[in-house]
Amino acid sequence: MLKGKKIVLGVTGSIAAYKAAMLLRLLVKEGAEVQVVMTPFAKEFITPLTLSTLSGRPVFCDFFNASDGAWNSHVELGLWADAMIIAPATASTLGKMANGVADNLLVTTYLSMKAPVFIAPAMDLDMYAHPSTQRNVEILKGYGNIIIEAASGELASHLNGKGRLEEPENIVKAVKDFFCVSCDLKGRKVLITAGPTYEKIDPVRFIGNYSSGKMGFAIAEECARRGADVTLVAGPVSLVTPHPSINRIDVESANEMYDATVGAFPSCDVAILSAAVADYRPANQASEKIKRTASDMIIELQANRDIAATLGGMKAENQRLVGFALETNNGEINANEKLAKKNLDFIVLNTLEDKGAGFACDTNKVTIIGKDSKTEYPLKSKKEVAKDIVSHLAKLFLVLLVMLVPITASAEGEELNATVTLNASKVQGSDTEVFEQLENSLAEFINNRKWTANTYEEEERITCNFTFVVNSYANDGSFDCSLMVQATRPVYGSSYLSTIFKYEDKSIKFRYQPFDRLEFVEESVDNNLTATIAFYVYLIIGMDMDTMGELGGSEWLNKSLTIAQNAQNLGDVNWKMGSGNSNRYSIIDDYLNGAMEPVRKLMYKYHRLGLDTMYKNADNGRKAITECFELLKKAYEDRPMAYFTKLFTEYKIDEIVNVYSKCTDEEKKIVVDVLSDINPSLYKELEKITKNNN
Ligand code: CTP
Repeated sequence: MLKGKKIVLGVTGSIAAYKAAMLLRLLVKEGAEVQVVMTPFAKEFITPLTLSTLSGRPVFCDFFNASDGAWNSHVELGLWADAMIIAPATASTLGKMANGVADNLLVTTYLSMKAPVFIAPAMDLDMYAHPSTQRNVEILKGYGNIIIEAASGELASHLNGKGRLEEPENIVKAVKDFFCVSCDLKGRKVLITAGPTYEKIDPVRFIGNYSSGKMGFAIAEECARRGADVTLVAGPVSLVTPHPSINRIDVESANEMYDATVGAFPSCDVAILSAAVADYRPANQASEKIKRTASDMIIELQANRDIAATLGGMKAENQRLVGFALETNNGEINANEKLAKKNLDFIVLNTLEDKGAGFACDTNKVTIIGKDSKTEYPLKSKKEVAKDIVSHLAKLFLVLLVMLVPITASAEGEELNATVTLNASKVQGSDTEVFEQLENSLAEFINNRKWTANTYEEEERITCNFTFVVNSYANDGSFDCSLMVQATRPVYGSSYLSTIFKYEDKSIKFRYQPFDRLEFVEESVDNNLTATIAFYVYLIIGMDMDTMGELGGSEWLNKSLTIAQNAQNLGDVNWKMGSGNSNRYSIIDDYLNGAMEPVRKLMYKYHRLGLDTMYKNADNGRKAITECFELLKKAYEDRPMAYFTKLFTEYKIDEIVNVYSKCTDEEKKIVVDVLSDINPSLYKELEKITKNNN
């Protein structure tokens, strides 16, 4: 996900500097181009040679190159980078950055930086807790930098407490999250209003309100993180917008906000109106400061135009509009009125009766009210509330399925575009090199092996995740891991990815030593790790083919079955034959059983005739999906013990709830009846379908 991103990695003089090498490797592995800048003192802890070898670029440390006198331009670096990460950041560097003490190349680069800056502090616990460090951290946050808080644990001083550099994996995750959390808004253009407006009385006085803009800014940040292009029309606030995908337009009055917002709306997919727009402005604005007189003064007010109502009138069929209502009394009644009057798709209600909600504070408690839905949320930070609101919005788009941006896979490889993650945090303290090598080898094995004779175009590759969690590991190379496998297919004409298979394999035991080559030979299944991987790969390819053409995946599914049969002698219970085991063997054995043919046919109907049609004609698409429930029911009746039927309902349920957020009563009944028979534990989700008003 960091492919092609240009990153400046700043390293300072801390014991944790050795971790910068791991961080650098991870960034390079993610496809980032990394330029290292070190402070002179950092060289005492890690050599520039190590970092230049890993980054493939010379490391910058001094203002001038000692050999040829060339200037290492911090200004150019500031313009070149998409992000800067300072890890580890010592107390001294934090202090210099917070106060502009530019006595080394790292700090000058920071001061010239145009891109977002991530700072991961590392120091002893008392230094970290010291008020001066904490104040510097707060100052740096206030400048819009992203602080990756130090972790707690054993420190170099052998004391225990907060001050450890966050693990490199988590630093990379924070950067990836920043650039794109789930990308469910990729390609979307989102317009947001935020903050108060000031209505001038004279050159030095205005009518305003207490809005801080924090809620709207948090929404803008969240939308950008999820892949949207954001236009943020901001009233007078003292907040920063570090994300590069946010285009900010600063305004002061309601009239200026009106012009900027109405002008931008036609090219946007959605507008989220969180600004506290003044309803009135002084009818006359004095050009000179109004002088005090003995008599009282009356300011005549003139109504401002309602931005939300104007956009509600302009809104096209494929555009969405979200409003806010801050109420002191009769919250729900007022919010519902505004929803209808302004033609909003949903409104976010917060009431000042709730403690911790509303202006100025960092928390909020909201209720999201749609035309026929209401969801109450508990008190949360505004950042968390922003996530809830944006998720609600993303679901609206999912229902619409009108995302017009085709998705393109980016990884190099053959049939699969797989992300492999090996999480070894449970067995920390062991040799991390082994885990790193295993993760790399697995990614290479899955992505680079040619699994079929077919030619796959870049955009046809199947996006999937293999997430291993190491439960136990011994020095002789024996592993016990759990494995979550998930595969998706894109929905035609959209960037929405629909899950075609998701399963958690609770335990895979195998042996792996550094530099072992991962190989799989179909004729001799003798390695439990590669057999398991090959099994899932063929299963995913087969299921993907089943979604493309009716029963299209037989060839690959049979390969999976053969592996499961040949693996019986490997002594792994997850291969054990016998129905009702809900293990690897039973999944493929059930799926290929004649009685389950309706389920295989369903894969085609649901995805090609259902989801792929929805963006053109939602009713027709949903009709095809409803017919799939008859197929599911038939398979369930003919083979009630089959685990796959239930598994399918589990990983599809959120999507199903969205598909049926608008439907007829008959459709509702079919879906709810079939699913509650097959998987009664889904009753909460099914209630959501039942409660939808059509
Ligand atoms: N809004 C707007 N333009 C205005 C006034 C309000 O876009 N001139 C938007 C707000 O950003 C918010 C929604 O309309 O999303 C509701 O704002 P609110 O001030 O609660 O609504 P009003 O219609 O002004 O009602 P009230 O009488 O409660 O102030």
